[in-house]
Amino acid sequence: MNTVHIEDFKKSVVIRLLVLPCIVLMLLSGIIVYYFTVHASEQLDKNLVRIASDHRKFIDFFLSEKISTLEFILHSNPYDEMCQPGFIHTLFENLQAESKAFVDLGVFNEKGTHMAYAGPYDLAGKTYSETEWFNAVKEKAMYLSDEFLGYRNVPHFIIAIRRDHNDQTWYIRATIDTCVFNDLVESIRIGRTGEAYIVNQKGVFQTRQRSGGRVMESDPDFKEYQISSTGVNAFYAGGKFKCRYLYAIMPMAHTNWYMVVRQAASEAYAPLFFILIISIVIIFGGGILVMTAAFFMTSGMEDKLKIADVEKREMKTQLIMAGKMAEIGEMSTGIAHEINNPLQVMRSEVAMIEELSRDIEPALPETATPSFNMLKDSADQIKIQIKRCGKITQGLLNFARKKESALEKIKIQQLLPDIIHMLDQKAKVEDIRIIQKIDPGLPDISCDPNQLQQVFLNLLNNAVYALKDRSSGEIRIKVYREGSEIVISIADNGCGFTPENMEKAFIPFFTTKPVGQGTGLGLSTVYGIITGLGGNITLASELNTGSVFTIRLPVT
Ligand SMILES: Nc1ncnc2c1ncn2[C@@H]1O[C@H](COP(=O)(O)OP(=O)(O)O)[C@@H](O)[C@H]1O
Ligand SMILES: [Mg+2]
Repeated sequence: MNTVHIEDFKKSVVIRLLVLPCIVLMLLSGIIVYYFTVHASEQLDKNLVRIASDHRKFIDFFLSEKISTLEFILHSNPYDEMCQPGFIHTLFENLQAESKAFVDLGVFNEKGTHMAYAGPYDLAGKTYSETEWFNAVKEKAMYLSDEFLGYRNVPHFIIAIRRDHNDQTWYIRATIDTCVFNDLVESIRIGRTGEAYIVNQKGVFQTRQRSGGRVMESDPDFKEYQISSTGVNAFYAGGKFKCRYLYAIMPMAHTNWYMVVRQAASEAYAPLFFILIISIVIIFGGGILVMTAAFFMTSGMEDKLKIADVEKREMKTQLIMAGKMAEIGEMSTGIAHEINNPLQVMRSEVAMIEELSRDIEPALPETATPSFNMLKDSADQIKIQIKRCGKITQGLLNFARKKESALEKIKIQQLLPDIIHMLDQKAKVEDIRIIQKIDPGLPDISCDPNQLQQVFLNLLNNAVYALKDRSSGEIRIKVYREGSEIVISIADNGCGFTPENMEKAFIPFFTTKPVGQGTGLGLSTVYGIITGLGGNITLASELNTGSVFTIRLPVT
């Protein structure tokens, strides 16, 4: 898989991992949040309706109680008696003992004239035949007025009751203390902004509004009211965008008043908003988590794929390399044998020349001695060159692994420091630092110690050569176990390989050294020995930066 394919693959995985779960998450959360908010706001509305309804019942009960008390007084006392000033005062005292809500009490004849009065105002003798309340109670038997000013010129409301008995009609009237009634209606507290008040049919305040409206003033928001015993009505009170309130408005039992309970929507819905915000944070947080997870997963996968890709390519090159090396190995063996045979002949011929020379030397005339010596020198030179050729063929055979070796169990952690020690002097001259990091507890490996010595000497000598004329030269040797293998890495910060030379490094006779300095058989021999031991050797290098040779040998 090349990089383009990996990118495509990554994209498709990201899309699948991201888009699908995100859509599902969004849909699911959307549905949950929708149903939750609908349900929660219904609950809020119901709660407000319940509060309004309970409070209305409470106020209705208060008024019923007052009406019943007055009815009892009216029906249990004859008209004449009630017209007595002393009697009405006693009645009023009894009334006040029962409830401080009564401000005064009065008795009226059928024409609406105040016959007797007990209370703080001087109202006895006044005639009410033209007043609204008197005309209403004449018709309805019981009348509960709206707040009005009357003779006393302060807002108050009254309860008036009629009695018809023995062709006689008379009335009693009691005033309810506006302050007591206000406190009663206001007593409800819902959060910071919640309040309760009463308005009449025309939207005139019958009790104070905690947030500002005064008794007998008109409620400016009355036209927006939706009156029902079950519903909640929400709108911006005091004109658009001033403050949005939730209203629950209930008609009251004895009169045409409405009990209004309201709370600022921002406060009522605050818990809902809080939960909504939390939900949104969770949804987005979840989304971000999914995205991050998808990103890291795909990045991890991408990295793994890239590594696998590189490994695959490396393996391919290694296979090609191994094939090439095997071919060169075959060829090298052939060449070595071909050269070895004539060398063998040459060796015996030289031996014969030496033997014959020894025989004829005493019989030679003196004049022939210089030429004879030259002949002997030539024979010596041939011997030297035969030896050199022998070394080369030996090197070739080493590479091709055609030489028998004596395997023994050795401890590399003991052998390697001795070999490194052999290079100490040379390194010192070249000002090279050798750093060793060898795991002391390594298991044995089976190999020929001479061969292994040859391997390390070749590699270390090459490293020293690569560090020639370099300042702060370093050779780092690391030996450690990795699974069933022992890994030996020899790194230098020397001249490094060019990419083309890296490919040729292990091929016999490849050298960049000047003629006479290198045979180009060092690395090929190393390669032959290591592969012969069932291991492998790899090279990583960068020009002018350094090279790392890594050997892997199986643990026995
Ligand atoms: N550590 C190294 N750093 C840089 N180049 C190296 C290193 N080791 C080997 N080489 C290169 O590989 C070539 C082959 O090395 P080798 O087989 O030992 O033969 P030789 O040492 O006789 O040249 C060297 O000539 C050198 O160019
Ligand atoms: Mg070498």
